[in-house]
Formats: sequence, C-alpha cells, structure tokens
Amino acid sequence: MSTDSTRPGPHPVEPERTPEPDVGTTRAAAGAGSELIRLEKVTKRFGNNTVLDDLDFSVDAGKHVTLIGPSGSGKTTILRLLMTLLKPEEGTITVDGEQLFPAPENQVREIRKKIGMVFQHFNLFPNMTVLRNITEAPVTVLGMSKDEAEERARELLEMVGLTEHVDKHPSQLSGGQQQRVAIARALAMRPQVLLLDEVTSALDPELVAGVLDVLRDIARSTDITMLCVTHEMNFARDISDRVLMFDQGRIIESAPPEKLFSEPEHDRTREFLSAVL
Ligand SMILES: Nc1ncnc2c1ncn2[C@@H]1O[C@H](COP(=O)(O)OP(=O)(O)OP(=O)(O)O)[C@@H](O)[C@H]1O
Ligand SMILES: [Mg+2]
Repeated sequence: MSTDSTRPGPHPVEPERTPEPDVGTTRAAAGAGSELIRLEKVTKRFGNNTVLDDLDFSVDAGKHVTLIGPSGSGKTTILRLLMTLLKPEEGTITVDGEQLFPAPENQVREIRKKIGMVFQHFNLFPNMTVLRNITEAPVTVLGMSKDEAEERARELLEMVGLTEHVDKHPSQLSGGQQQRVAIARALAMRPQVLLLDEVTSALDPELVAGVLDVLRDIARSTDITMLCVTHEMNFARDISDRVLMFDQGRIIESAPPEKLFSEPEHDRTREFLSAVL
C-alpha cells in the first residue's frame, strides 16, 4: 500500500496551479480506481421498518459519489453506518480492503480514522477556538505534534477562507463560517473518505455558495473520495462522478450526473428531480 505523498491522485492538479495544502494526501491511500468503500447485502432495520434493503454498492478511490432521493429513503443511514454510529442487521461493509462490519473494535477504530464527516449541524467544540477545534483530534487521536497540527490547521483555514478567524470561538462566527471550520476540521485528520450530509441545508441561503465553493475546491484539488448527500443539484452535477438515486432503501438508478439529470431512466427519478429542481 502506498504512502507516497507525491502520488498523483485520480484528479490530477494542472501543473500551473498553485499547490494546495496536501489535504488529499491520505495516510494510506488506496490506489486510484480501486474500490475504497463496499457495502454488500446490507440490511438495516429499525424495528420492523426496513430502511436499507439488501443494499450493494461501492465507491472507487478518489471518486465523488452523490446520493439523492426522497426524505426517509435511507441516505443518512448509509453515512451513519460508515461512521459506525449504526450497525446493520445483515451484510458486510469494507473500507480500503478492511472489514468495518462485522469487525473487532480495534479494527473499527483504525478504519474510522480514514473517514471524515461533515453533517448538517457542525457541532464544533463551543469552548475551543477555531484553531483548537481543528488541531484537537490530530493531536489527541493521531498523535501529531502541536506545532505540526497548527501549521496544518492554518493551511486548511486559508483554504476555507477563514485565516483571520483563527482565534475566535464558534459562537463568534456565522453558520457558513462554522461549517467551513467543520470542513477544515474533518480534513485535518487526512481522511481518505469525506462523508457530507446536507452540509448546507441548515444555512441561510446567502451562506450556501461559500460553503459549496470550498467543497468544489476540495473535489477539484484533492484526491479525497467523497460520498455526499445533497439537495443542491447544481453542486451535485458539478462535482459528482456518479449520482445514485435512492428510493425506499434501494438504489434505483446510478449514472454519471450528465446522464441522470438529463435523461433519467426511471419515472421515480424523473418525478423526484422535477420536484427538487
Ligand atoms: N434512529 C432511528 N430510529 C428509528 N428509525 C430511524 C432512525 N434513524 C432513521 N430512521 C428511519 O429510517 C428511515 C431512513 O432515514 P434516513 O435518515 O436515512 O433518511 P434520509 O434519506 O437521510 O432522509 P432525509 O432526506 O429526510 O434526510 C426513515 O424512515 C427514518 O424514520
Ligand atoms: Mg438524511
């Protein structure tokens, strides 16, 4: 397995680009094109409500996959399974060739370090500065030195456009700024996978574009694998290699965005798109 930090990603940066902070340099990256996430025959029930039904799907390393579909179709549940906040009743989940479920607790902990997440509510640590919010986990979980973690945090804050807010507390920031800190905080762990669940849906409309721009930038300039749930269809169209349409815990359609948004095959997809677009 390669740990070569100069390894080109599947989305190579044009040579003339200013180098970005190496947020896409993963600690133990899977080779481009190999399968990074795999769910096999995953069933998740809450009581007698079957939320995911014998679900199979995979995401290749470096790809950006977006999940769309109606409320309650199981999109967040998938992300929560990958975060190990939930366990399936049946099936297996594999990340970077190692089983996340079922698996012993120490294995789960190691795999979890490869996965970063940003959800709708940013849950920053309210009593910590912006800088400390970003450095805390790399220092305590990864054992990074404080100096290195701070240097990296400053690079990430520059990338998300918040350099001047480094010493503020979350309550002194707008929702959009807090969400950009949450993105920087997730990237500080050098995840191989970034899970994004409706990261802009709790924001005032005028703050949405700034956050999406940051995510577009990450999608373009890093090799992080992204699994994204969003209602922002233009954003989904811009960043996705593949869009999965969910309905009732099943993938009913999977296609590149230009295909899925322009010529959906299923009536259910058409119906959903006409409601949200
Ligand atoms: N902790 C829970 N206990 C019981 N039922 C749950 C729980 N979490 C989710 N569900 C149910 O699972 C189903 C799928 O929920 P999920 O949150 O994955 O949907 P979603 O596709 O993310 O919807 P939305 O677009 O509204 O966020 C829903 O019917 C929901 O009520
Ligand atoms: Mg959801």
